[in-house]
Amino acid sequence: MSEKIYPVPAEWAKRAWVDDAKYKSMYAASVADPAGFWAEHGKRIDWIKPFTKVKDVSYAPGAVSIKWFEDGVTNVALNCVDRHLARRADQVAIIWEGDDPNESKSVTYRELHAEVCRFANVLKAHGVKKGDRVTIYLPMILEAAYAMLACARIGAIHSIVFGGFSPDSLASRIEDASSAVVITADEGLRGGRKVPLKANVDAAADKVDCLKTVIVVRRTGGAVTMQAGRDVYYDEAVKSVPADCPVEPMNAEDPLFLLYTSGSTGKPKGVVHTTGGYLVYAAMTHQYVFDYHDGDIYWCTADVGWVTGHSYIVYGPLANGATTLMFEGIPTYPSISRFWDVVDKHKVNIFYTAPTAIRSLMGAGEDPVKKTSRASLRLLGSVGEPINPEAWEWYYRVVGDNRCPIVDTWWQTETGGILITPLPGATALKPGSATRPFFGIRPEVVDADGKVLEGACEGNLVIADSWPGQMRTVYGDHQRFMETYFSTYPNKYFTGDGCRRDADGFYWITGRVDDVINVSGHRMGTAEVESALVAHPKVSEAAVVGYPHDIKGQGIYAYVTLMTGIEPSEELRKELVTWVRKEIGPIASPDLIQFAPGLPKTRSGKIMRRILRKIAEDEFGNLGDTSTLADPGVVNDLIDHRQNKR
Ligand code: PRX
Repeated sequence: MSEKIYPVPAEWAKRAWVDDAKYKSMYAASVADPAGFWAEHGKRIDWIKPFTKVKDVSYAPGAVSIKWFEDGVTNVALNCVDRHLARRADQVAIIWEGDDPNESKSVTYRELHAEVCRFANVLKAHGVKKGDRVTIYLPMILEAAYAMLACARIGAIHSIVFGGFSPDSLASRIEDASSAVVITADEGLRGGRKVPLKANVDAAADKVDCLKTVIVVRRTGGAVTMQAGRDVYYDEAVKSVPADCPVEPMNAEDPLFLLYTSGSTGKPKGVVHTTGGYLVYAAMTHQYVFDYHDGDIYWCTADVGWVTGHSYIVYGPLANGATTLMFEGIPTYPSISRFWDVVDKHKVNIFYTAPTAIRSLMGAGEDPVKKTSRASLRLLGSVGEPINPEAWEWYYRVVGDNRCPIVDTWWQTETGGILITPLPGATALKPGSATRPFFGIRPEVVDADGKVLEGACEGNLVIADSWPGQMRTVYGDHQRFMETYFSTYPNKYFTGDGCRRDADGFYWITGRVDDVINVSGHRMGTAEVESALVAHPKVSEAAVVGYPHDIKGQGIYAYVTLMTGIEPSEELRKELVTWVRKEIGPIASPDLIQFAPGLPKTRSGKIMRRILRKIAEDEFGNLGDTSTLADPGVVNDLIDHRQNKR
């Protein structure tokens, strides 16, 4: 672990919203009197009816209930669009940069308002009402933002499914949300390649009963099959709707969106975020963490299919009246300088990306970066996985020219916004550390028994009290919500992450401690990949673990036991990779598959993953206690045939 310290540059301490002294006093106030603190900051958004209650939270076992601003009435689209019309109608709200560098577009707040109203009216014309779930399966085009805000405007709950998910994954999410409407595009475009989104929706539609309407945005103009009575082109539907659409008054605790995310067990769960608290928290963190000031050009490279895209491309920035850049493409197309070309083209000041992108660009050396100017950059951000100090230093030195602080922001789909992070005018930086908690956040490090550790320590990361952006429940399964997050350590939110706290009180996230792996910043449940593998007719059993991967952070390592009589082969290995891609999506592709005649199990039949992890990490010298194994002999065979010899 690096202990190098980068102090706050003097000009940052001066110009930023908060310096260190202000951070300390605001933080102390926020945890001493959360209701008082958030009563004040809750006013940063406009309320149709102001709240009188601030915080009503119980983490009590079996009775977890989280409410913020519960009697307030507002609307997210009102806050992200309408309220800016008085002062910023002609300011650019969204800069869209296409996959093709010759395609880009700027949309002002006035134009955004018109687009969102029309999209909302198209949804209404297709029967969408307050509380209905609308699934969005779109590429990174402007219509994705319009569709999100259109749902928010009329009180519909959106559920975005990342365009890289397979028809099966899409179908299970449509079904779980019982969504009657899907919004998609004919095809997506990434790195010059077409993604058959509409065809995927067609395949998903065959597997669900609830789907009634598919709204298709034309992106490439590619040929698609339109099913009469079900499918409509957006550009045709929009012709016949009125331009104006009033906002639906929403209670602060009405759901804004569902977002499916992977856990240690079972199928992905629908994380529910609500209206008031989520928006206050997303907006406030966006302003302070990125030190956003009027006129700044801000770019988060995430996809709106992930929570980062929700909170830090759309809702946080737009609530703040910011100019936010939305990028359709990938970092390596048409050249490996693309990110930096886009920075120069649009004079981006704040740039927020994932460590995996940095690591993959590092491999191509400094020239593709250094040949661009990047003079507009002032602040860099990182999210999604631990950033190793080497990648941090490269990001700082090569991309930021030793000039731009890096905010390493730790958070989760469940947390709605950033919880642990530096503030650029306040926090000295240590490469690899997410540093200190944001206002109102009370992290604690606990040991396996739940004992709270003090001072410098290492253990599991829990959060002792609620914050407004916290998820409220798992869609349709509050029991699962309570069991997943509040039962391991009663009265605390368990993050699933391990962490270390150093003598300065800085936090270092060490990665997941559950059966979730983080592949290129994307969360994947090992159980999901396992069920995909065992669904293959030639597979009898599978166990999946993560292993360190130079670029992806973690790679997917699958141990597969074949049905009797089936012989392992290279061909079968490829077949299984293709199979998993088809079942879940390319992000779940196993990197390494080991055919194993037997898996290490206890006498009661439980697979000992600890051993499988060690072998996958090529660390089998230290397997720990193997005496409880039913057949200790399988371990030697696993070691002999390991796939990750380093
Ligand atoms: O393990 C942590 C890791 O990503 C997990 C959350 O994944 P997801 O819900 O997909 O959200 C990702 C984007 C917010 C966490 O439990 N993680 C996220 N950010 C960091 C991180 N690990 C270390 N450092 C980070 N900055």
